[in-house]
Amino acid sequence: MVFGGRSAEHEVSLVSAASVIHALDKEKYEIVPIGITPEGRWLTASDALKLLREKAKVDQYPEHLIVPNPQRKGLVSLNWTLTSPAVYHVDVLFPVLHGPYGEDGTIQGLFELADLPYVGAAVLGSAVGMDKVIQKQLLQHAKIPTAPGVWFFHKEFSENQKELLTAIERKLRYPCFVKPANLGSSVGISKAHNRKELLAAISLAGEYDRKILVEKGIQKAREIECSVLGNQEPIASVPGEIIPSGEFYDYDAKYVDGKSKAAIPAKLPKNVVRKIRDLSIKAFKVLDCEGMARVDFLVRGNGTRVYVNEINTIPGFTPISMYPKLWEASGIRYSELLDRLIRLALDRYRERKKLKTVYDPKSTWYRE
Ligand SMILES: Nc1ncnc2c1ncn2[C@@H]1O[C@H](COP(=O)(O)OP(=O)(O)OP(=O)(O)O)[C@@H](O)[C@H]1O
Ligand SMILES: [Mg+2]
Repeated sequence: MVFGGRSAEHEVSLVSAASVIHALDKEKYEIVPIGITPEGRWLTASDALKLLREKAKVDQYPEHLIVPNPQRKGLVSLNWTLTSPAVYHVDVLFPVLHGPYGEDGTIQGLFELADLPYVGAAVLGSAVGMDKVIQKQLLQHAKIPTAPGVWFFHKEFSENQKELLTAIERKLRYPCFVKPANLGSSVGISKAHNRKELLAAISLAGEYDRKILVEKGIQKAREIECSVLGNQEPIASVPGEIIPSGEFYDYDAKYVDGKSKAAIPAKLPKNVVRKIRDLSIKAFKVLDCEGMARVDFLVRGNGTRVYVNEINTIPGFTPISMYPKLWEASGIRYSELLDRLIRLALDRYRERKKLKTVYDPKSTWYRE
């Protein structure tokens, strides 16, 4: 179980991981906790989660790492003088990491190099699941409805401020939403009602990412979420609705004020429920996701207009999180959901192992 991480969603990951560790069947699984500090230090102490939650000093703890060498098959002590191989054997990794350096394909790449099975989307699915600009382009290419948007590099904005502001105001009007391209938990996201707020919002988003997305604000939108589970034959849960406590579903409304509400299942006409489930699976496949994802929608007028807002490839697993709750309401209990996710990880690994990774050129041209 990997948690924490070098992202602005570090704390959210700790709460998610605590909930997953709690729900995992201890008869079936021996859990090796791998905590990653906000600075990126790996910690495999049995109380790693507690230490990270208390922001305790951890330098005195030995460091173990997954190394990109398939022969190692586990966590290797950083004490390189040791000739002995891995200290901790690992059968499958369960990354419960949100945001960059965990949900964006980076750590998935390390697991691939180390040739270890892991839960969730692989490198590409994670990367496009994280980058809201690339994600929107792929969804639009697949004719999946999403809110109109304009994107630019923060550096570009300071050089072409006037043109970009005019383009944003002409194409998107107000209110609009400004987002760092690669983040989650609404960190760095603002709703702008006028040019002054737009400028402040762009500079805030620019603190978190070099790439910024500005989206047309879908007015009076209902926030509908749908969970997806599977590899190449994914299934979709019943949709649920979020009623945010604030003007929009910001960080405080998600995790701090405890006033947002959830309605499961969402009260929607049957044909809209079907549309949302179909679009969730279509988006999951188009974005090359595997294992799990939560697809977020913005729905107007009881379903006459349905927009995919975004996909999250490692959704929240906190006790209030929609991903496990939507499966609970669809007949899959939390611990069974975790069993399935781990089985999907092992299935994918076995399928990958059938693929050739070497080519025999039947000549020694490369020696000349
Ligand atoms: N185009 C839009 N129109 C209306 N509301 C929006 C729009 N985009 C975002 N929002 C509001 O902002 C919230 C956060 O946006 P979004 O889901 O894109 O960010 P996130 O940081 O990836 O969140 P998550 O925690 O789901 O990963 C949404 O739940 C919604 O309340
Ligand atoms: Mg997100």
